[in-house]
Amino acid sequence: NAELMEKIVSLCKRRGFIYPSAEIYGGFRSTYDYGPLGVAMLRNVKNQWWHAMVERRRDVVGLDASILSTPKIWEASGHLANFTDPLVDCRKCKERWRADHIDGVCPNCGSSDLTPSREFNMMFKTHAGPVESDGSVAYLRPETAQGMFINFANVLTTSRKRPPFGIAQVGKSFRNEITPGNFVFRTREFEQMEMEFFVPPNEAQTWFEYWYQERFAWYQENGIPSEMLRLRHHEKEELSHYSAGTVDIEFDFPWGWGELEGIANRTDFDLKSHQSASGEKLEYFDQVTNSRYTPYVIEPAAGATRAMMAFLIASYREDEVEGEVRVVLGLHPKIAPIQVAILPLMRKAPLMEKAGSIFSALSDRFLCDYDDTQSIGKRYRRQDEVGTPVCLTVDFDSLEDDTVTLRDRDSTSQIRAKVSDLPSEIDKLFSA
Ligand code: GAP
Repeated sequence: NAELMEKIVSLCKRRGFIYPSAEIYGGFRSTYDYGPLGVAMLRNVKNQWWHAMVERRRDVVGLDASILSTPKIWEASGHLANFTDPLVDCRKCKERWRADHIDGVCPNCGSSDLTPSREFNMMFKTHAGPVESDGSVAYLRPETAQGMFINFANVLTTSRKRPPFGIAQVGKSFRNEITPGNFVFRTREFEQMEMEFFVPPNEAQTWFEYWYQERFAWYQENGIPSEMLRLRHHEKEELSHYSAGTVDIEFDFPWGWGELEGIANRTDFDLKSHQSASGEKLEYFDQVTNSRYTPYVIEPAAGATRAMMAFLIASYREDEVEGEVRVVLGLHPKIAPIQVAILPLMRKAPLMEKAGSIFSALSDRFLCDYDDTQSIGKRYRRQDEVGTPVCLTVDFDSLEDDTVTLRDRDSTSQIRAKVSDLPSEIDKLFSA
């Protein structure tokens, strides 16, 4: 399984999904850059989430809040006091570890001569403005969630929504993780997809169950097989400082089960804390019952970069085609960075021209790639390896009868289709 991870990391680099950052300077501490195919795939993951969580729903609206934030937010949210990890140092080799990630033994040198553990706050602190004074302290947000709480009243008055309703956000978060690792599973800079769903307190349990089931189904709808997913309810001692109940959606990573997303019942903790710290009313006045209350919050909180990694792992396979081993990413067409690869059979002007005009016509509807280098067999393999569901080949017959070949990634079977029917024929292959 370490071998599978190695293959995926290498494929990601070789094919332009994910590069180690600052490589020309020798790299920089678990930071990664998303290449041409990686940025396309990550956008698809986020778009699929946004579509399911915002565009397809009448009860959720979007938000894009600031990453730089005042310490007041993190004081009220409890992150300054509670967002800590227990830290130990190895006295022998001087390595530093998260106490709960190791078993009393330094994984580097095997020594058990460790310092007592102490709490370390994981927020990145910086300064806003030219003077580094206490008054200029700012934090990079460690979660996107607080943006929704501090804008609760703004959204309530401008969107005409009423509970139950949600506010969703996708964006970067930063945590000074003591032990980042496992590729992009745990990094210090990462992307989250979070939604805060505000509900009447007596409906919280029902919505909690609703949302963990919805979210569990989402991963499967986008191509992760059900046997690679499971739900895990948190024990009481494990709950975050704000949570009255949490369920994790876990994925079968090559090193074992790990969290993909947490769904939490955050109660009225956040709105109440911000109300008392800011002095602004963060309540809802229900005109039907003529009463005022602080909504409870159900929060599905997912990682975009971590989800992308799970989609890569779940889709990786090696099979045999015409006696040769082929590497395939069996990605769902909505997640694949390229949906249709347009390939002129040879580098001949009339073929390239026709392929170019098909590219122009189809690229308004599908994510297309145009490739006229090397043999057609090699190009098919390259597209299989990056998960392209359909390859479209333009040959000399195409110039006569206006038809092209469509090749299906998974079965490698081919059909002939009229150029005018391409959108519907491709849609058919996607839903097969
Ligand atoms: N607002 C609640 C919250 O942030 P979390 O469980 O700490 O909850 C939610 O984070 C999700 O964000 C995780 O399930 C994971 O997918 C992703 N995530 C958290 N820390 C991460 C890190 N250091 N690197 C990559 N993804 C991370």
